[in-house]
Amino acid sequence: MLKKLLIIGCGSIGQRHARNAKKLGVENILLFDIDLKRVEQFANEINTDRFYNSFEDIFSENSDIDAAMICTPSSLHLENSTYLANKGINLFIEKPLATDLKGVEELVETVKTKKLTAMIGQSYRFHEGFLKLKEILNDNVIGKIFHVNYYGGQYLPDWHPTRDYRTEYSAKKNLGGGVLLTTMSHTIDIVQWLFGDITTINGWKDTLSDLEIDVEDSVFLLLKTNRNIIINTSFDFLQQCPQHSMIITGEKGHIKADFNKHYIEICKKNDNLIIEYEFDDNYRYLKELMYFFKMVETNSQNHDLGITIGKNVLEILLDPTIINICNK
Ligand SMILES: NC(=O)c1ccc[n+]([C@@H]2O[C@H](COP(=O)([O-])OP(=O)(O)OC[C@H]3O[C@@H](n4cnc5c(N)ncnc54)[C@H](O)[C@@H]3O)[C@@H](O)[C@H]2O)c1
Repeated sequence: MLKKLLIIGCGSIGQRHARNAKKLGVENILLFDIDLKRVEQFANEINTDRFYNSFEDIFSENSDIDAAMICTPSSLHLENSTYLANKGINLFIEKPLATDLKGVEELVETVKTKKLTAMIGQSYRFHEGFLKLKEILNDNVIGKIFHVNYYGGQYLPDWHPTRDYRTEYSAKKNLGGGVLLTTMSHTIDIVQWLFGDITTINGWKDTLSDLEIDVEDSVFLLLKTNRNIIINTSFDFLQQCPQHSMIITGEKGHIKADFNKHYIEICKKNDNLIIEYEFDDNYRYLKELMYFFKMVETNSQNHDLGITIGKNVLEILLDPTIINICNK
């Protein structure tokens, strides 16, 4: 088990990871945030006095940090990760890896030459619904897959109802917000994990609502994978009733998955099966942390969620064929 874990950014996801790390038995959790009041309050909650808002203080007091988790707004992931990688610290980097490709290859090289374990936080790989769906697809129940409709969204002000959405990273371009980088970083990873590498990209991003944000609130993508599967996907910040679902059409029928209602329906001509699965909102985060700890303990440089996954997802998200048609 890791002895010393540093959490950079103690907002929503950073706090979740810290609580989970404690649950998993990490002895020393160091907390870092620029918001001293927030980090102090949270340190009290998890009963630690190791909270910081200066990197110098962290490293003058601690020389033996096993790993760090980068949970700052997306535009800071690369800068934070590069700094820590140069100090030889293993990294868990929240998605997306970065918001720009500049400096990404340098980080990949540093991770490689320093033989670090790095992992990108594509938590949906550990989501009960996607795991069940992957199992069903592996069993080839609907034969050859032709196309997929993958759709979802949630009204941005409802994400964190106690906060003003206009101040959140997801609403701000300079912090790496917007549907594409925030939500679709999951979408692209899941699509490739289930249906193969994306080879053709086309899309639009747009702002359709009056939300007070300077980023797109909707993205529509049409993709093709190396398995010749067409993916039509759209996500937004607009849905008053959250949606997250997928319809997969194959030669023997179709599969409908609702990731909010936690069921998967397999429809064939004379056969219809509904599979309901158990769901726990924290399960995927706990599992992804267990996976990360295992990769660090075995000093794994080549694993399923390595830094090159993050680089590849980012390259797709930033592909110039995704056109910005915002009228703002
Ligand atoms: N994998 C997932 O399922 C998942 C879920 C939620 C968020 N995320 C990702 O995690 C990141 C953070 O999201 P969040 O919802 O926790 O945001 P948040 O706004 O709740 O938290 C961000 C924290 O970072 C702090 N911060 C800002 N600048 C900093 C700096 N320079 N140094 C240190 N701390 C700084 C803020 O004070 C805040 O406490 C985003 O990149 C998001 O995409 C991933």
